[in-house]
Amino acid sequence: MGKSTHFLYLDEEDMIKAGVLDSAHCIDVEEEIFRLLSTGDYVMGGDKGNSHGIAVRFPKESPFPNMPVDAPDRRFMAMPAYVGGRFHVAGQKWYGSNIINPQRGLPRSILMVMLNDVDTCEPIALMSGNLISSVRTGCVPGVATRYLVRKDATVCTCIGAGPVSKACFEAIRLEAKNLKEIVVCDLILEKAEAFANEMAEKYGLIPHATTSLEEAVKAADIISVAASSVKPVNLQNDWLKPGSTIMFTGRCNIDEDYFLSSKIVWDNAKMHEVYYDEHLLLPEDQRFINGIGVQAYRMMFEGKLPPITEGISLGDVICGTKVGRESDDERICFVTGGMPVWDVGWGYEIYNKAKKMGLGQTLRLWDSPYLE
Ligand SMILES: NC(=O)c1ccc[n+]([C@@H]2O[C@H](COP(=O)([O-])OP(=O)(O)OC[C@H]3O[C@@H](n4cnc5c(N)ncnc54)[C@H](O)[C@@H]3O)[C@@H](O)[C@H]2O)c1
Repeated sequence: MGKSTHFLYLDEEDMIKAGVLDSAHCIDVEEEIFRLLSTGDYVMGGDKGNSHGIAVRFPKESPFPNMPVDAPDRRFMAMPAYVGGRFHVAGQKWYGSNIINPQRGLPRSILMVMLNDVDTCEPIALMSGNLISSVRTGCVPGVATRYLVRKDATVCTCIGAGPVSKACFEAIRLEAKNLKEIVVCDLILEKAEAFANEMAEKYGLIPHATTSLEEAVKAADIISVAASSVKPVNLQNDWLKPGSTIMFTGRCNIDEDYFLSSKIVWDNAKMHEVYYDEHLLLPEDQRFINGIGVQAYRMMFEGKLPPITEGISLGDVICGTKVGRESDDERICFVTGGMPVWDVGWGYEIYNKAKKMGLGQTLRLWDSPYLE
């Protein structure tokens, strides 16, 4: 007789009851994980253990009638990781993304997170991942705000009015204690207005909504970019204030002068090294086009910026081995490509809370495995 295996299934409602929306707690958990990233107590996928994940993307055209074709933000993605320290857990986020989903009453991306025992490899939890992912994504700029943003920042601009942008703002405003104004820029003015008004009412801020990027960023101390890639977000160096901090959570282009006169801080330079190497394998005309922060990669490739191996990671700033903000006038660009360590680490935190609260359903994998 072999060993029985059971795991916990947590739906979205269970996740909410267990505290997945608690951004303040998530920011602290992520700061802890940033320290693990700096010391190296983690492993992600790929040969170098630093891969964001592996994507299934569809071809531009297909002879098969059922095979999807390429479209903006259309993909499936598997993102595995081991997180060390007190977490000591392995797991994976798996999701699909289709930009037309909101027309069907669904989120653009639908995500699941699986956690596994590191030793026996048994599943310990299968969880709804949408809120893990949006909160963990938002809280990364929250940690960056704690360490990189001027303490007297009063204006925060959000580019994009989707769920990820909202999650970013919820976390940023927890750390930017002197915020007075929220500016939201979206292609759809009504979406920008609804987001700005909702946040203004909730937190007593002055709201401003616009479709003009220039108008949106001119007065901003903090700029959070989390727009989908329907239309590229193109900013100009001379629109951006001295001392401002941009958080790239989604794609964004700025003219090269910006990067030459500002400091870049990466969520994890080692992951961006892997991304950079992957771009070098692409045909020349496809390199440095898709992805967050790829414009800086191109400038590195052309020798205009120091190589990514010399890049500053936020974890190193937190641990004090690299320097973050050096003056009130310095402009900083924080690039976050997203990592499964956040999904696994934040997912594990919520799983433990759910277990204590008796939430979820226990599912049986087997009483005894058929094959031993
Ligand atoms: N870095 C990470 O860890 C991470 C994680 C998850 C998602 N993301 C990225 O965040 C982005 C937003 O995700 P979402 O789920 O909120 O998307 P969404 O599609 O639900 O919403 C995005 C919003 O951006 C707006 N938009 C698109 N182009 C714009 C432009 N040029 N100017 C202003 N607004 C524009 C759209 O109108 C839409 O309202 C996606 O690109 C996604 O890939 C990043």
